[in-house]
Amino acid sequence: MSTALQIHASGIKLPVSLIPCTTKQISRASKRVGRIRCSATTPNKKYTIAVLPGDGIGTEVTPVAVEALRLAGSLEGIDFEFKEMLVGGAAYEATGVPFPEETLKASLESDAVYLGAVGITKKMPSSDHLPKHLRPEVGLMRIRRALGVYANLRPITVFPQLLEASSLKRSVTEEVDFMIIRELAGGLYYGKPRGFGINEKGEETGFCTEIYSSSEVDRVGRIAFDMAMERRGKVCSVDKATVLESSRLWRKRVTIMSEEYPEVDLSHMLVDTSAMELIRYPKQFDVLLTTNVFGDILSDVAAMITGGIGMLPSACIGGPGPQLFEPVHGSAPDIEGEDVANPLAAVLTAVMLLRYGLKEEAVAKRIENAIFDTLNEGFRTRDIPTPGAKIVGCKKMGEEILKSLYVRVPSYQLN
Ligand code: IPM
Ligand code: MN
Repeated sequence: MSTALQIHASGIKLPVSLIPCTTKQISRASKRVGRIRCSATTPNKKYTIAVLPGDGIGTEVTPVAVEALRLAGSLEGIDFEFKEMLVGGAAYEATGVPFPEETLKASLESDAVYLGAVGITKKMPSSDHLPKHLRPEVGLMRIRRALGVYANLRPITVFPQLLEASSLKRSVTEEVDFMIIRELAGGLYYGKPRGFGINEKGEETGFCTEIYSSSEVDRVGRIAFDMAMERRGKVCSVDKATVLESSRLWRKRVTIMSEEYPEVDLSHMLVDTSAMELIRYPKQFDVLLTTNVFGDILSDVAAMITGGIGMLPSACIGGPGPQLFEPVHGSAPDIEGEDVANPLAAVLTAVMLLRYGLKEEAVAKRIENAIFDTLNEGFRTRDIPTPGAKIVGCKKMGEEILKSLYVRVPSYQLN
């Protein structure tokens, strides 16, 4: 099992002058370009990040995120130690299981866990032949469980440069900025009983249980209300209370909690209506709080507002130990190995790791600004084309982000 990260050798070309640098080098560089600012005066802070690239395009986009972290960290006096571990299809192929013990151990010992993607790969285009406990997705479900993360934050933020990349009209998507908070540790994904059986007619059946306890709703609800207090003060809780008992309890608990937050404006919306409203008038949302399975579906719908799933990062938080950060896309075997994957969700996930995991806002902002700048320069991957844009591959996009980080973003943008 490799522990030292080989991501440097992954093929991203860093111009020699952009190699992550020491404080001394940075101050020399800032004299030269007059732009780089480094706030490091004391010895560097250190963090250990467990990096689980996973499979498929996870192995292509993860190095971009890691290099962005490394460079932005070095500019702000932070050293990262990256421990690369196996998960998903890659773990299954190498060790026979999708979530090896070593991966769990390294994850628990880290300051934050970064996971690229899991799913089917070119080598294994279907995992239907595998028993359920060996499927690649099990790696993802297990790590979420093991870290005890129960709130999944999926920001739906539209970059102004990408307005033409969405399949929706500019008037609908412009200035959209909301946060989906998906419950991540319960509901239909984990409820018991579940399984297969035979009904009274002798037919085969398959069944799962949607079940929520009051404490499960409360803990994720609190994250939503706290976040709304930091944003525009609105929570829209999405359920299917007209039909499902689990939703009735959900709605009741969220309503009780709202009494603690008189400044927050709480509304409830049925899940089918919300699917429609996300497309009709997404600007109405600030914090959208919902269950595990509804959040899974609605976040893919909402991703299209931003240009597509290649733009959607996520943070899985709330656990007692290290938190988990994962771009939302699957492993996309159809484009694996072609260097066309969009690394922006992966890099935006690194931003979330810094912001919500390590609370290193200055580094987060640096990377965010670099992404903004790279888009300003006209670089796009092929999934987010806009008129007149330069369509580049995953590696090139990564190089441009590093260039923006190092030389192009003026320091006045950093605040
Ligand atoms: C997601 C994914 C996962 C989920 C799958 C891969 C298990 O679709 O993160 O949205 O359903 O949670
Ligand atoms: Mn999903």
